[in-house]
Amino acid sequence: MADLTSAARAILTANDRGGYTVPNGTVYPFQWNWDSAFVAIGFAAYDVDRAWTELETLFRAQWADGFVPHIVFWKDDDGYFPGPDVWASGTDPRTSGITQPPVAATAARQVWERSPTPEYRARLEALFPRLMAYHRWFRDMRDPEGRGVVVTVHPWETGRDNSPEWDAPGDLIDVSGVGDYTRRDTGHLDHKMRPTKLEYDRYLALVQFGRATGWDHARIARESPFRVADTGMSMILLRANRDLLALAELLGKGVEADELRAMIATSEAGIGWLWNAEKQCWNSRDMITGAHSGFVTSASFLSFYAGIRDAGKDAATLAHVERIAGRVRYLMPSLDPEDPGFQMVRYWRGPVWAVVNWMIGTGLAEAGHDRWAAKVRQDTLDLIATTGFMEAYSPVDGGASGGDDFSWTAAIALAWT
Ligand code: DGY
Repeated sequence: MADLTSAARAILTANDRGGYTVPNGTVYPFQWNWDSAFVAIGFAAYDVDRAWTELETLFRAQWADGFVPHIVFWKDDDGYFPGPDVWASGTDPRTSGITQPPVAATAARQVWERSPTPEYRARLEALFPRLMAYHRWFRDMRDPEGRGVVVTVHPWETGRDNSPEWDAPGDLIDVSGVGDYTRRDTGHLDHKMRPTKLEYDRYLALVQFGRATGWDHARIARESPFRVADTGMSMILLRANRDLLALAELLGKGVEADELRAMIATSEAGIGWLWNAEKQCWNSRDMITGAHSGFVTSASFLSFYAGIRDAGKDAATLAHVERIAGRVRYLMPSLDPEDPGFQMVRYWRGPVWAVVNWMIGTGLAEAGHDRWAAKVRQDTLDLIATTGFMEAYSPVDGGASGGDDFSWTAAIALAWT
């Protein structure tokens, strides 16, 4: 594993832009929110100081209301679309106007536990109020009805951009006013690995909608044509709230700890709304129509990571793991391989993602499902060792999908070796 570890470190070094790490220098040349959280977990394996810096840099772009953007445009780069002029956040630094799965508090706990010294405790103390403000923002802006789920307003916000979970909800988005634009992603990568033109039109229409509100998140939460309770974000936030609670207790923050307990209780009471009794799986749900997506995706397996323990639902979820493991060489495909829409190299419609595997594997291990936890971890390391530090991988043959020299894939190799 020594070679894998040094190769992973070399990628983080090459992608370091001074205080933050780009996901990949060509396709994604800025700071991305959940990428940086995973990168911090990777850095923590050998450079705890740099791990804290990654999180601190991200939170320097936090808005006054607690919102943390999904992209921070610290430096200009023409290689990416849509850039800061399209988002028009009006902030300094310039940012996007949507967020991403909130992994940051989980990352902060992981980094802290690697080296719990007085020096790092001071940095944790300084970051804690910012993390708290971010989680309050999620409570107030992404769960305005207090249902205990995260309502996303953009597929990019979920991090699982072109998951089929967004197809039916996306039909309600009017793309007639989007106008002409030039994609940059398909200039860097094979279009077969990327979202379609219709999906991009929808992404852009939602950016234009948000920008027209002046990025008024309360209004967006009420009026966006795309409002979906995302299983992935809901599970990830529930986990992050538990991790932030552990940090609050450590720091003796009683008021905040009570607030976090209330947030966790709300999620535990409400998240069952995302259980699809007919398909016996966790899935996302359209807030506008109430419809279940009906898809088994990699996010369906994050319930263990979220700390949900429900014998019936766990058994049904593990039965899907067993079935899927019988169909593909590598767990966990981002879409059920038995689904007619499964495509082994198209982004979130089939490929395996190392960071999702880390969350699934971590959750399975914590829940005591050791056999599956070990397989998810080993499959991830085998993919990396065989194919390199790719953005994602075909679950069928381990082939590459997306960009190479990927920071968060390197980070997971470091976290897991
Ligand atoms: C992209 O541009 O593909 C990103 O996933 C958006 O965050």
